[in-house]
Amino acid sequence: MKKIIIIITAIILISVQESRSAIDWQVPDSYITMENPVTFNNVNVRAGRDLWDRNCKSCHGDPGKFNALSLVPPPPDATAEVMQANTDGAMFYKITYGRGAMPQFETTLPADDRWKVVTFIRRFDPRNEGLLTDEELLKGKIYALVGSENSTIDIVAEVQDKTGQLQKLAGSTIYVMARKTFGNLLVGSVSTDSEGRATFNIPAGMRTKSDGTVDFVLTLGDDFEPTVFAISGVQVKEPEPFSAPPRVLWSTNDRTQVWLLFTYFAALIGAWSTIGYIVLQIVKIRKLSQKNQG
Ligand code: HEC
Repeated sequence: MKKIIIIITAIILISVQESRSAIDWQVPDSYITMENPVTFNNVNVRAGRDLWDRNCKSCHGDPGKFNALSLVPPPPDATAEVMQANTDGAMFYKITYGRGAMPQFETTLPADDRWKVVTFIRRFDPRNEGLLTDEELLKGKIYALVGSENSTIDIVAEVQDKTGQLQKLAGSTIYVMARKTFGNLLVGSVSTDSEGRATFNIPAGMRTKSDGTVDFVLTLGDDFEPTVFAISGVQVKEPEPFSAPPRVLWSTNDRTQVWLLFTYFAALIGAWSTIGYIVLQIVKIRKLSQKNQG
C-alpha cells in the first residue's frame, strides 16, 4: 500500500512538473530586453503578414480567429494574451529556437524576417491600437518584363513612402493572373526579395487564347491601392510533348491507315494460328506415338 501511494505521488509530481514546464518557456535575459530593429509601420507589418501566411498560419491560424491547429501545447493565436505577453525579444527567441511542435526558424528565416513577423504579431498588441491607420492603402508600382525564351516574368516592385518617394518593395507578394474572358485567373504568386525583385516562372503548357498567347496581369495584395501591370500577348511554351520514344517502329493511333492496321492484324492472326496449328500437330504426334508404344 505504502509503495502504491509513493508511486502515485511521484506520478502526480512529475506531471505537475511537466505541465509547469509546458507553460514556462524560459527565455534568456539577453533576449527578453532585445529591441526589435524593424520599424513598426505599414510596409513592415505587411511584409510580416506575408511571412506569417507562408510560415506560421498553417499551425497558428488567422490572427483573431482562434483557428489554430489543435496541438499540445496549442499554438497560441497571434492576438492571444499569452502571445502578446512576450517582449519582442522573447518572441524573437521563441521563433528562432522553437520548442516541441513549434519549429525553430533559425535556419529557415533570416533574422530580419523573424523580426518582421514579430512586428506583424505586435500589430495586434492593444497598446499599438490606432498607431497604424489601416484604411490608408499603400501606393505601389509594378514593372515587369518577359524573360528570355518566354519562360519567366521578371518583376520589380516599388512602394511610395510617407514623403512620396518610391522605395524598393521587399518581401511582398505579387499575384500573377491570366486574363480570361470572364475575369482574371490566378496562375501563381511570387515574393519580392530585399531588392524588390521577383521572378515568376511561367508554367509550360498554360491554357492560351486561340492565337496561342496569354495576357498576364500582375497585382499587389489588398493592402495596396489597386495596381495592375499588364503584359499582353505572351507566347507561352508548348507543354512537354509526350512524343513516342524513337525506339518505336510503329504505334497505333488515329492517323494510321486502316488498310495498314488490317494487314497488321491479319498477319498477326495468321502467325499465331500457324504456331497454334504446329503445337497442336506436335501434341497429336506425341499422343499417337504413346498409343503405339502402349
Ligand atoms: C508546426 C506548427 C507550428 C508552426 C509552423 C509555427 N508554430 Fe509557433 N508554436 C507552435 C506550437 C505548438 C507552439 C506552443 C509551443 C509550446 O508552448 O511549447 C508555438 C508557440 C509559438 C510562440 C510562443 C508563444 C508563447 O507561448 O509565448 C510563438 C511566439 C510562435 N509560436 C510564433 C510562431 C511564428 C512567428 C511562426 C512562423 C514563423 C510559427 N510560430 C510557426 C506551432 C507552430
